[in-house]
This record gives sequence, C-alpha cells and structure tokens, in this order.
Amino acid sequence: MSAQILTELARAKVNLDLTVLGRRADGFHELDSLVAFADVGDIVTLDLDGPAGVHVAGPFADGIVGENLASRALALVARAAPGIRLGHVRIDKQLPIASGLGGGSADAAAVLRLLERANPAYADRLDWAALAAQLGSDVPVCLANHACRMTGRGEVLAPLVDFPMLPTVLVNAQSDVPFDKTRRIFAELAASAWNGTPQPVRDGATLDGERRRIRDSSASAVAVFVGYLGQRHNDLEAPALTLIPSLETVLAALRHDRLSNIVRMSGAGPTCFALCRSLDDARAVASRVAARHPGWWVRATQLG
Ligand code: C5P
Repeated sequence: MSAQILTELARAKVNLDLTVLGRRADGFHELDSLVAFADVGDIVTLDLDGPAGVHVAGPFADGIVGENLASRALALVARAAPGIRLGHVRIDKQLPIASGLGGGSADAAAVLRLLERANPAYADRLDWAALAAQLGSDVPVCLANHACRMTGRGEVLAPLVDFPMLPTVLVNAQSDVPFDKTRRIFAELAASAWNGTPQPVRDGATLDGERRRIRDSSASAVAVFVGYLGQRHNDLEAPALTLIPSLETVLAALRHDRLSNIVRMSGAGPTCFALCRSLDDARAVASRVAARHPGWWVRATQLG
C-alpha cells in the first residue's frame, strides 16, 4: 500500500483593514476586518502512516517559542474524537513567525483541514469551526481559507464572493518582536486615547456602499476594493508603532515607491503590505525594496 500523505498550503493571512469596535467583558476585542489570503505560505503535510506528532523545518522553524499551535490542534482533535485517525504533521515554515500574517494560525487551521480530509466520517460529527476558535482568534478565518469579512472576536465570518485577485507586496523587516506582541498591542490600544467602548465604523465607508457606487461605472472589481480600502485603517497600527518602532521604516519604504497604492500594516504587525495595480508593479516594488534592504523578508504575491 502506498504511503498516505496529504498536503495543504497554510497561506499567509492579510488584514486589509482592521477596526477595533470595543473591548468585551472577557478581555477580547470586537473586531471588523477584511481578510484575504496570499499565494505564499507554509507547506503542511500529514503522513497518515506516521506517529502522531509535529515536526517543523524550513527557514523560520527556529523562531517558534513555546508549544506549536499545530501540536495543540492535533491534541485538541484527539481529545474531541478519541477514535479519529491522526498522523505525523510536517511543517515547512516559510512565513516569518509572529508577523501579523497568521502563520501559526494558518498552520493549525491546515492541520484541522488535513484531519478532516483524512477522516471524512468526522466531517459533520465534529464542529471544526468551534475547534478552530478554541485555538485562537485568527484560526477560524484561516480554516475557511478564503477572503472573508471577519467580526466578533474573529470567529464570525462572512465570505466575500467575487473577491478579485489583488496584486500585493508583503514586507517584514525581521526585527525582534515580543512573543506576546498581539496581547501587548491590544493593551497599548486600551491605554491610548481609544476609549474602549463600542464604536460605529468611523468613516461611514461600507463595502456594499462602495460596490453600489462603482456598479454602474466601468471600474473593475479591483477598483471597488481599492476604493473602499483607501478609506479604511488598521486601528492596531498606532499602538504597534509604539511597541515596534522599526515598523515606521517599513511603512516609509513602501510609501516611498510610486507604484505602491495603499500601504498598511496587517493584523498586529509587523508585516506591512502595499497594494499595487498589477502583479508586474508588485514585483517591481518588491525587487526595489529587497535591493535596498537585503535583510528584509519581501514577497510579491496576489491576495484572493
Ligand atoms: O486569540 P489569540 O490567542 O490570537 O489572541 C492573543 C491576544 O490578543 C489575546 O490574549 C488578547 O489579549 C488579544 N486579542 C484581543 N481581541 C481579539 C483577538 C486577540 O484582545 N479579538
């Protein structure tokens, strides 16, 4: 019998915008964020003939601190369904760690997808989305693995149909970040002028409104999203700049390039992105930034 190996790409998650609507009684924050996925990511395989466990290799394998979220995913499923078929998970870690691209969450979500594929009888018997939410706020959207509007703590997902491919450059300066960066950035936000009470979406921009405005014009689907996103923000950018000052250099390097359209931080950072008009433009921006900053992680990609 041939070895049974299944593979998933744990794609980089990008928060195209992120509004913090309020702080909940449980300490988590209510969010509103458009999330899309890049065509770069970690490669996650499940060897059904191997012993249950997780092995991490690849350029960013050494950066993982504490228990791997993928190991927690495996243990969580084993507890929830004692008879389920597990296996050996191998992660080829291509994404920088703790970078705002949801790499650890995407790995854990890929493990859930692999286990669901390996155990079709459990597809309906386990609540995979609920298991994902137990692992972390970004794991449900990574499990869905397609462009979504994400609300609640991160677990309420509305798929974005007809989402266009958005040519994008991703940049991470690979500077040291605290391992509990996300918690500290939310705490920093609470300590700032932001008053922590639920806010309406500040600028009144809505994706539906933008779609209506563009529908009768000749603008492309890319223009719809870029028009909308141009009016949006990432509320975590200001507190992240306090905690990770090198972020400013990355934002400035991307803003400096005339082919960069919208420039913003993803998630709790420090990876930033620039949306471009075409993949050729994104490649040109990426090669200029990489030439000027050889130590940075830079990728031209398409979000979708
Ligand atoms: O869910 P996750 O483990 O990724 O969250 C890390 C930390 O980020 C949480 O402990 C919390 O402090 C903060 N967080 C939050 N609101 C969210 C998501 C994360 O306050 N919606």
